Amino acid sequence: PLVSMKEMLITAKKEGYAVGQFNLNNLEFTQAILQAAEEEKSPVILGVSEGAGRYMGGFKTVVNMVKGLLEDYKITVPVAIHLDHGSSFDKCKEAIDAGFTSVMIDASHHPFEENVEITTKVVEYAHSKGVSVEAELGTVGGQEDDVVANGVIYADANECENLVKQTGIDCLAPALGSVHGPYKGEPNLGFKEMEEISNRTDVPLVLHGGTGIPTKDIQKAISLGTAKINVNTENQIASAKTVRQVLADNPEMYDPRKYLGPARETIKETVIGKMREFGSTNKA
Ligand code: G3H
Ligand code: ZN
Repeated sequence: PLVSMKEMLITAKKEGYAVGQFNLNNLEFTQAILQAAEEEKSPVILGVSEGAGRYMGGFKTVVNMVKGLLEDYKITVPVAIHLDHGSSFDKCKEAIDAGFTSVMIDASHHPFEENVEITTKVVEYAHSKGVSVEAELGTVGGQEDDVVANGVIYADANECENLVKQTGIDCLAPALGSVHGPYKGEPNLGFKEMEEISNRTDVPLVLHGGTGIPTKDIQKAISLGTAKINVNTENQIASAKTVRQVLADNPEMYDPRKYLGPARETIKETVIGKMREFGSTNKA
């Protein structure tokens, strides 16, 4: 069933695992992620960036596609449709009105007081509709669609505590050295800060830029209160690799089902691997 992330993440934090947010890019990604979740008996968060939403036709199309698959695939595990890096109150409202069950308001590039103001407005509207809210502080490095960072800025623990207290968000993404897209070398995550922020805020924490983080760091983050981990690039790389391979092996091939089908299988295997790594398998 379609649910918000609230209960999922509270349970995950309490039981010491993380729920994966896997980003949608098209129909095949959506199919693969839902199939993986059902097979693994895992809760799952479908992440939709504004750019990916636009690509797929709009938020309504995304919601209807997901609802159709939930029915056709007879999905029984909890599924959230979550706006990833919502850029404004209006975008969050648009997603909620289209049927999203969760939104992220990313006002992290605004001055703190403005971040609080925008996030509060989103929380008021979202919670009145039973929709969960994620907010961000600091700057995640790298680039994802419209979200481009110049440099990495660590979230400040005082601001984290105040943002959570003043806005009533359901979970918090404190940027602590993670990067969207591939890492240059090993990631260097601020675990000390993560522990302090987790102790001072008491909400489930979110780790963006999940691609390329070694298992030991994933486990450490989970042990320090991280209950949601976002992955996009890894699935994109896996699917592109398969498409390249299949087309190179079969130069006469033109039916998209013949190369997107295998890509979908690779995405599914990648997602299953992440669910096992995050510990969400058999938690639905
Ligand atoms: O918001 C989405 C994620 O943070 C994805 O990051 O593409 O590096 O896995 P990633
Ligand atoms: Zn992100």
